[in-house]
Amino acid sequence: KLTVEDVDVKGKKVLVRCDFNVPLDADGNITDENRIVGALPTIKYLIDNGARVILCSHMGKPKGEPVPSLSLAPVAKSLSEKLGKEVVFAADDNVVGDNAKKAVAEMNDGDVVLLQNTRYRKEETKNEEAFSKELASLADLFVNDAFGTAHRAHCSNVGVSSILKPAVAGYLIEKEINFLGNAVNNPVRPLVAILGGSKVSSKISVIENLLKKVDKLIIGGGMAYTFFAAQGKTTGTSLLEPDYIDYAKKMLDEAGDKLLLPVDTVVAKEFANDAESQVVEGNIPDGWMGLDIGPKTIELYKDALKDAKTVVWNGPMGVFEMPNFAKGTNTIAQALADLDATTIIGGGDSVAAVNQAGLGDKMSHISTGGGASMEFLEGKELPGIAALTDK
Ligand code: 3PG
Repeated sequence: KLTVEDVDVKGKKVLVRCDFNVPLDADGNITDENRIVGALPTIKYLIDNGARVILCSHMGKPKGEPVPSLSLAPVAKSLSEKLGKEVVFAADDNVVGDNAKKAVAEMNDGDVVLLQNTRYRKEETKNEEAFSKELASLADLFVNDAFGTAHRAHCSNVGVSSILKPAVAGYLIEKEINFLGNAVNNPVRPLVAILGGSKVSSKISVIENLLKKVDKLIIGGGMAYTFFAAQGKTTGTSLLEPDYIDYAKKMLDEAGDKLLLPVDTVVAKEFANDAESQVVEGNIPDGWMGLDIGPKTIELYKDALKDAKTVVWNGPMGVFEMPNFAKGTNTIAQALADLDATTIIGGGDSVAAVNQAGLGDKMSHISTGGGASMEFLEGKELPGIAALTDK
């Protein structure tokens, strides 16, 4: 794909799709700026090269209504601080309205404007051409740097790409594709993947695709208990997806010793940090639920990781939000931090876990994609990237 360096941007109006879908607290403060920080290299490059930078993004799911709590105003403020220059916020409820048109008309080279939440328009998630055309009418060319949204085919990524040519990739998309792409398609081996989180059902395609690529696949989190059931173990009151037990059996048969499962479990009487708990090996007794991997499993997994040269991690090993059940996740995070390897953290909860452990800057790459990085690991083509102009 063409990238931002392949086009002349001087004096051009450049529409840039970012993923500024960042978490906000009840007062509207941004609680994790990873996605904003990730977007800065492209924005700075465009400013430094004299482009007129028109930024756009969605936030949350306002379903075509101008929901005030999902305004991008806090993002404009954060960007202004980080760039050390004013980012003009065009607060149109219809996104491409009078404020946006006026702000763009008044731009000088190097100026930055941010449009309102693209999902204030109901056309956005339906990829309806009329809204794509409105967005495209503001600019001369299009840069997509929203990796986190690349698994969606919406107006502000796929729609505008078919109208505003060339449509090129920004640095963040390039970086994400390099890290995740090399990890699964061209890894320095051994390649170890760690998958956790609560549901097998949501990770089936990832497990299938990764089993073809990895040297080892480590399983933790709630999804492990469906595999326990497949092994014929009892699971007590642990999370279980009965409909997926046969599937888990099939995967166990196919994977052989590539697939590592917990050998012991921290179990509790109820889902609470101060619940009565113990460590059990093998079967989980009646009335107990698994909430973290046990100490023997931690040692087993650390051993499996020790020679790894590439590690991809998605999903926590236990209920890391509860300090009494965070040890598995934290210890694995520390093990990754200590490795002399390329370590890639893909999406959502595992990113939160690594940051909670204070180890974010010890990882080679923290993906800004949740769903997008999952679909990438599933081996799917991401429509937001496919729509960009080929080199
Ligand atoms: C994400 O947070 O995964 C992206 O911003 C996409 O958001 P969505 O799941 O609401 O489309």
